Amino acid sequence: MNWIERQTHTRTNHAQMLVGREEGLYLRDFVVRNNCKRVLEIGTFTGYSLACLADGAKTLGGRVDAIEINKELDYIIEEGLKRAGVSELVKVSYGDALEILPSIAEEYDLVFIDADKRQYPQYYELTLPLVKPGGYILADNVSWYGRTSSHEDPKSAGISSFNSIVESDSLVESHLVDIRDGLLVIRRR
Ligand SMILES: C[S@@+](CC[C@H](N)C(=O)[O-])C[C@H]1O[C@@H](n2cnc3c(N)ncnc32)[C@H](O)[C@@H]1O
Repeated sequence: MNWIERQTHTRTNHAQMLVGREEGLYLRDFVVRNNCKRVLEIGTFTGYSLACLADGAKTLGGRVDAIEINKELDYIIEEGLKRAGVSELVKVSYGDALEILPSIAEEYDLVFIDADKRQYPQYYELTLPLVKPGGYILADNVSWYGRTSSHEDPKSAGISSFNSIVESDSLVESHLVDIRDGLLVIRRR
């Protein structure tokens, strides 16, 4: 994971997009504690959170799928997963999650959402049917740096609308974990 973090700082201008060490450890432990053998990530960037999720799944003999729209940084993802010793249990699909998700016929114990904030409501709608009863969706950045009350920009509006949809959905229960920019833990009933 350290290698991915360093490469991200050196080779991109967007290292702030990484979940970082504290949340990365939280994700890894969440997978292990909740026995999440089948995991899906939406929004992989350079593979940091993916490596953390996969590290947890590895201890369970599990597998992780991931969807990333931008293929330009695939060399960091691939080498990073290799160095983390998790390449064999991870499959990354490159493309738009909104197009790929409807074609997935698998069920997951955990879906981690961390892609385009404007599209959170659509990711939720498309992933909830893929989550096993008793399984989880973790959604990152739901506090959106305190801007969720402003609907003026599309990302704030997307997160705000997502939070409202989850809150009023009787199919799930949820709570906010105050880590980094807010992580919403959603459990399918
Ligand atoms: C915040 S970054 C992900 C960071 C990563 N989860 C981590 O912490 O290591 C968001 C990523 O979502 C990707 N993304 C945006 N829209 C997407 C879409 N519609 N489908 C798949 N990936 C998308 C972006 O290219 C970007 O790499």
